[in-house]
Amino acid sequence: MKPAERVGVRKRLLPGGFFALHITCWRLVMTPRRSWAEPWKIKMVEHLRMTTRAEREAAIAAAGYNTFLLPSALVYIDLLTDSGTSAMSDRQWSGLLLGDEAYAGSVNFYHLEQAVRKFYGYKHLIPTHQGRGAEHILSQLCIKPGDIVPGNMYFTTTKVHQELAGGRFADVIIDAAHDPDSEYPFKGNCDLAKIERLIKEYGADRIPYLSLETNVNMAGGQPCSLENMRATRDLCHRHGVKVFLDATRAIENAFFIKKREPGYADKSLADILSEICACADGCTMSAKKDHLVNIGGFLAVNDDELAERARNMVVIYEGLHTYGGLAGRDMEAMAIGIGEAVQYDHMAARIGQVEYLGCQLIEAGVPIVRPIGGHGIFLNAAKLLPNMPREQFPAQALAAALYVESGVRAMERGGVSAGRDQDTGKNLLPKLELVRLTIPRRVYTQAHMDVTAESVIELYAHREKIVGLRFIHEPKYLRFFQARFEPVKGNKVLLD
Ligand code: F0G
Repeated sequence: MKPAERVGVRKRLLPGGFFALHITCWRLVMTPRRSWAEPWKIKMVEHLRMTTRAEREAAIAAAGYNTFLLPSALVYIDLLTDSGTSAMSDRQWSGLLLGDEAYAGSVNFYHLEQAVRKFYGYKHLIPTHQGRGAEHILSQLCIKPGDIVPGNMYFTTTKVHQELAGGRFADVIIDAAHDPDSEYPFKGNCDLAKIERLIKEYGADRIPYLSLETNVNMAGGQPCSLENMRATRDLCHRHGVKVFLDATRAIENAFFIKKREPGYADKSLADILSEICACADGCTMSAKKDHLVNIGGFLAVNDDELAERARNMVVIYEGLHTYGGLAGRDMEAMAIGIGEAVQYDHMAARIGQVEYLGCQLIEAGVPIVRPIGGHGIFLNAAKLLPNMPREQFPAQALAAALYVESGVRAMERGGVSAGRDQDTGKNLLPKLELVRLTIPRRVYTQAHMDVTAESVIELYAHREKIVGLRFIHEPKYLRFFQARFEPVKGNKVLLD
């Protein structure tokens, strides 16, 4: 097939592709489909600035080769994160004007409470400024020093709050999640045998809860099946261990269940979301993802006593229990965003756009985590740069080089993000050494995805020019956000 024909066919791809899981992208591309378009149109635009390669070389050096330290004004296509980067709808923007900025009992709090009860089903809502605010409160209230907190792969902020409360995270995700090439459709699943082993080894008394993340971020945006979530809940509850969801991307998870799990094809995302939430005693939530807002989060629980304690604690760290660090207008935008996020057309477009980018990279032979996940494409840096020692942080170097090459900003999800072992102080070197190209919701068009794919493919062709990095500044907590590096030789991360 000639390239022009290929593009023509590929344009008809979205939002298909989910109808059969184990087929290759080529077969997806070849499937005849009608054209597809985003279920929204653009009302306001924000100009993008293009930079020269010399400007980008200077900028990344000044940022210590850490894409988190780049000024966004020097970024062309910003795929750092899908967190707080969504474009809000006109309805959400109009909701901002309905903000009731009363200190206590804002109208918008009750709207949000209604939406959370309706779609997530939990009795008590404790708003927080974002997800980690809720993680902090849950960890402090439930974890005692010496406790073990099992979870289906770590997430950076979740784990640090567990550790600060005196606990220790234990990974119970299935082994396939650590294999970027495994095509298993539910790589977010828990391994029940691993949970049982922990209960046997430490005793249920030392396990305050299991943290169950939906559409597991660090595994590449990989979903859990409802069958597995139910089995996990039943096993934990049998031993008196609670289950709390990290529901940050639960609606994206619901979409994959609808597409992949037998028996759910005809159910709405809202119904599947309710079934997911019924697998847990409550949840922490970063609303900056699924809920299409720029700030916000919450803790939601069923237990009256836990809710009472959480309400008491939120006033110390976040704000009164009816605003939790948010303005009334933020809560209104969130309440509206939840209703939009469960719409099938929205989610098909959102996940379809990620798939569109991923298929182009697979087609070009660029190693990425498979199956393509929900919120981004994860480049397999370990495979892409096989000769670079892990101690030189291949994913960090690759993300910095991609910025120099194209102005596209991605982020490291590998050894730098993993941090150090709590006991030995040694660098943790997780199997997954990845660069995440995270797609903000409703922000970029397919043309931006084409430019991104071309940039990655171009860099892939010259990958031997990427130079490894070493730390020159390493913060104690969540080091990936603020760490600084330098090239191990010379003064460029991407040679000319
Ligand atoms: N849980 C998950 C699964 C997340 O992805 C995040 C944030 C949080 C909790 C914390 O929420 O940022 O609102 O405090 N993830 C962002 C990311 C930072 O880029 O993946 P927060």
